[in-house]
Amino acid sequence: MADIVLGVTGGIAAYKAVSLLRELTESGHDVTVVPTASALRFVGEPTWAALSGKPVARELWESPHEVPHVELGQRADLVIVAPATADFLARASHGIASDLLTNVLLTTRGRVVIAPAMHTEMWLHPATQANVRLLRERGAVVLDPADGRLTGSDSGAGRLPEPRAIAEAAQTTLAMASSGRATRSDLHGRHVVISIGGTQEPWDDVRFLGNKSSGRQGFALARTAIARGATVTAVVGHVDGDLDVGVPAGCAVRRVGTAEELRSVMHELVAQENPDVVVMAAAVADFRPVTSHPGKITKESLADGAAPELILERTTDVLAELVAKRGSSSTPVIVGFAAETPAEGESLTTRALAKLARKGCDYLVANDVSDGAVFGDEETTVAIIDANGDCDLRESVSKEIAAHAIWDAVRFDR
Ligand code: CTP
Repeated sequence: MADIVLGVTGGIAAYKAVSLLRELTESGHDVTVVPTASALRFVGEPTWAALSGKPVARELWESPHEVPHVELGQRADLVIVAPATADFLARASHGIASDLLTNVLLTTRGRVVIAPAMHTEMWLHPATQANVRLLRERGAVVLDPADGRLTGSDSGAGRLPEPRAIAEAAQTTLAMASSGRATRSDLHGRHVVISIGGTQEPWDDVRFLGNKSSGRQGFALARTAIARGATVTAVVGHVDGDLDVGVPAGCAVRRVGTAEELRSVMHELVAQENPDVVVMAAAVADFRPVTSHPGKITKESLADGAAPELILERTTDVLAELVAKRGSSSTPVIVGFAAETPAEGESLTTRALAKLARKGCDYLVANDVSDGAVFGDEETTVAIIDANGDCDLRESVSKEIAAHAIWDAVRFDR
């Protein structure tokens, strides 16, 4: 397990760092907490000491014979700062070493994950944004704050992401470092839009047609893209479990319900955000009920013993539409997914190649979903195919490893 320094700076969200510490220690990591003097005004030293199981490193001037700023920084595999205030971002981006935490940042050669939290105005201020850009350029993973309720009654961008999501971002970053893969941010400066989960098509006010997509592969794509330096907008349909926990830290999120809503949000984002890559990982409905009945279809409303008729119509193929809209332009790179159930003797790759040609996208990630496999599973088998027909087959890998393989395959210089 890893040696982690958890830096906590003086914002109200410092209380959430207590849960983050818990997540990290329960995963077996050795965590040393380095709170700033202001952080200790929000959460006291005994809490950090008790939950980390070790003394809190507070001051440069404590135990100077142990040279704590050098020792802590050199030993750390990862430094996480959560919450990070605007003041901290300013000092860290300029290499100002005015307290123990900023000294640790200068001495560490481990990876750095920073989770800012502050009021929207402070976050959006050009000074803060410039500081974030500098930190990202130097390879730090700076997680965009979440949108939502802030300290007072106001809400907006500036909330600390959920502690579990920050812990997952840390885990992803550590896994990358330990596998020797892309330890620096190869997707830095790239913007990615990813559709995730399944759509639900209403039949009446209580019933819908859905599918088994859990959103796991899409979330893994978002998490790994962020860890590799990209900014990500996730278009999220129906997913398994608690959405607020599943969404990776640092993602901008748009929620959608139906295929038509997903279609309209994807077109809006492509027009407004000008992404470098669009990944259609969502399981979009191919068919929907022709009419959605207001209220609930009751047995009483039907002739004795009769069942209602369900008539379906085709939905629009969003992926094909995005490809057509792009025309001869080279951006965005478009990645499609394919859920396949190959017939006996037929190969996954052959089917995927035919679908790639049909859809016209740049890459197609094919899953064999025969017998309900893949949906909701931790593991997957994917064939990643490019427009030349080259195929990278990854069998029984975690969805995170599959996500890295997809990012490894994407070329921007086509
Ligand atoms: N897709 C889409 N719009 C739809 C249906 C699917 O954009 N209305 C996208 C999916 O997000 C995925 C890709 O198309 O990236 C392939 O989806 P899949 O369901 O495997 O293929 P289909 O084209 O729907 O073909 P079929 O189900 O007939 O195999």
